[in-house]
Amino acid sequence: MSEITTDETPVVRMVNITKHFPGVLANDQVDLTLHRGEVLALLGENGAGKSTLMNMLVGLYQADSGEIYVKGELADINSPQDSMALGIGMIHQEFMLVGNMSVAENIVLGMKDLPFVPPMAEIREKITELSKRYGLQVYPDKIIQDLSVGEQQRVEILKLLYRGADILILDEPTAVLTPGEARDLNEILKKMLAEGKSAIFITHKMDEVMEFSHTVQVLRRGKSVSVCPTKSIKRVQDLANMMVGRDVLFSLERGPYNPGEVKVEVKDLLALPVGGGKPVLDNISFSIRGGEIFGIAGVAGNGQQQLTEAITGLLKVNGGTIYLNGKDMTNKTPLQIIKTGVSHIPADRGRMGVVGDMSVGDNLSMKKYRTVELSAHNIIKRGLVRKFADRLIELFTIKTPNQDTSVKFLSGGNIQKTILAREIDSCGGILVAVYPSRGLDVGATEAVRQNLIKQRDKGCAVLLVSEELEELLMVADKIAVMFEGRIMDIIDAKDAKTEELGMLMAGVERRDI
Ligand SMILES: Nc1ncnc2c1ncn2[C@@H]1O[C@H](COP(=O)(O)OP(=O)(O)O)[C@@H](O)[C@H]1O
Ligand SMILES: [Mg+2]
Repeated sequence: MSEITTDETPVVRMVNITKHFPGVLANDQVDLTLHRGEVLALLGENGAGKSTLMNMLVGLYQADSGEIYVKGELADINSPQDSMALGIGMIHQEFMLVGNMSVAENIVLGMKDLPFVPPMAEIREKITELSKRYGLQVYPDKIIQDLSVGEQQRVEILKLLYRGADILILDEPTAVLTPGEARDLNEILKKMLAEGKSAIFITHKMDEVMEFSHTVQVLRRGKSVSVCPTKSIKRVQDLANMMVGRDVLFSLERGPYNPGEVKVEVKDLLALPVGGGKPVLDNISFSIRGGEIFGIAGVAGNGQQQLTEAITGLLKVNGGTIYLNGKDMTNKTPLQIIKTGVSHIPADRGRMGVVGDMSVGDNLSMKKYRTVELSAHNIIKRGLVRKFADRLIELFTIKTPNQDTSVKFLSGGNIQKTILAREIDSCGGILVAVYPSRGLDVGATEAVRQNLIKQRDKGCAVLLVSEELEELLMVADKIAVMFEGRIMDIIDAKDAKTEELGMLMAGVERRDI
């Protein structure tokens, strides 16, 4: 990590920034200073106000009060074009690309000084040159919607480089990436920083903070609570505690392993891709007992998603059987499967899972209205519903003004927590959780893991798909590794070793390890 000089005029100085949204004080008199060549890690729980602060720096929101100085001058930033003219560019938490346009068109879209008919040949050439220089593989003529998430993100980065940004804001750039893609992105960032660019980097991953940043700044409930050199941080735990404002547990409480009856039984499952080719699920067999967490490890894209879709009725299989709670549920509908007691936390929580216009409270209780917990003689008891919702809001630390707020006003991480809380709580014997802690802050991650274990201790069978071995080793009782649609092996978590799991994830057969 290169040294930075702090005696020059800072490239960015945000002074006393305050921003309200209806019912929320998103930023409360926040100061932030960024020097040339510096990487500032901006940390905080979901809903702490990080994206809001950065959105003001790129002109998407206006502060209620406070000033922004860029390279020493008081700046009046009213649009992304204004901030780009000052050399500031942002990669957003949700990508802002136009799906049905090409890579090249997206890169120049909205540029101010572009002629009416853009010189596409020239643009393509410059894109190719930049992508070589930074080792960013992109094809200018590909259409955005045909690209993977990782590829789309490379386009976003290229867009900033193309426009000559030297102050980069990265809002949780690795949250949506596979571990391999995240590593590639981090290499690209290092190249950009070596050229003297500065960056504000929002992430929940502590290893990235320690590896990349010079300075750490923590926001909590809209306030800046601490700024310190990364070098001065002795323990990652201290950072986590600073963000949450209490001690975060890094070891979880769990009852003894006490497996009961088989609740999920998958036999010789086969799923073929539409249009032919290698099976996406290739002869998969395993079973999960009550009181057991069955983890699935593997690099994303090796059939984990299809496996969980087959179990929850979203994907038809071509062969094999699925028994759930003792019943043959092979190729049944999602509704029939829910009725046998299966809860599902899908990977894609943006498109499925909540009704944006409904309140947080109603979203939390909608699966339970008809149960004795919330109604009597078929009449919903509003008082019980309110108490129930408040309990889940507290348990999962959902940041919302109150339970009557529409879900669509919550930050992304808090929408996720709402789904997790509802699904985990309503689990009727079988819980299928796909990347449940992806994109969540440390406090919420802890709550999610602890609650998965709680369901196990209550006798649920839990299927947990995760990309993080650390999470699987901490939470699961058994770990299966998937590679190219097959299960490479199933290991007792207490005997599992990271290196061994890593080899299996890469497709190395057990006899060769
Ligand atoms: N456009 C908006 N309208 C209303 N409330 C918002 C809006 N954007 C953010 N908020 C609220 O402001 C707070 C901070 O959100 P955000 O900056 O997205 O947090 P972070 O990025 O740290 O997770 C949250 O309580 C969120 O619900
Ligand atoms: Mg955010």
